[in-house]
Amino acid sequence: MSVPLSPDQQQRLLEAARAMLDKAYAKFSHLHVGAAILTERGGVYAGCNVENSSYGLTICAERAAVFAAVGAEGPEMQIRTIAVCARHEGRDQGASPCGACRQVIFEFGPEALVLFQGPSGPQQAAISDLLPGGFRL
Ligand code: THU
Repeated sequence: MSVPLSPDQQQRLLEAARAMLDKAYAKFSHLHVGAAILTERGGVYAGCNVENSSYGLTICAERAAVFAAVGAEGPEMQIRTIAVCARHEGRDQGASPCGACRQVIFEFGPEALVLFQGPSGPQQAAISDLLPGGFRL
């Protein structure tokens, strides 16, 4: 288990996620999602959702961020914390990672902390609480 992030570190990671909201390609749902990862090595990698006319090809912000982190650090990349935020038509929107993204986060950080905007304010949870019994080979 790694040392918990200070409030200042958490704030900076949430800001990195928030900065991605303007990059999202969300012309179908209009839900912009941003995610930022702090790796165990200390790297920060961000992603946004990218939708497609063939809706099922859409990729979530969290997975875009995880894949960017693996591309930068390689297969040993481990997630320490991931921050997620969302905006719908100009307003902040509560958003916790979807089930598919929880499984992908778990793969690269079974002890990762997830920071996200809950329905009534900021929340944090261990990925193992968001995804009990996550699958691993
Ligand atoms: N989305 C994410 O980026 N992350 C999630 O965890 C849930 C959903 C995106 C996908 C799609 O572009 C939009 O939100 C609406 O589902």
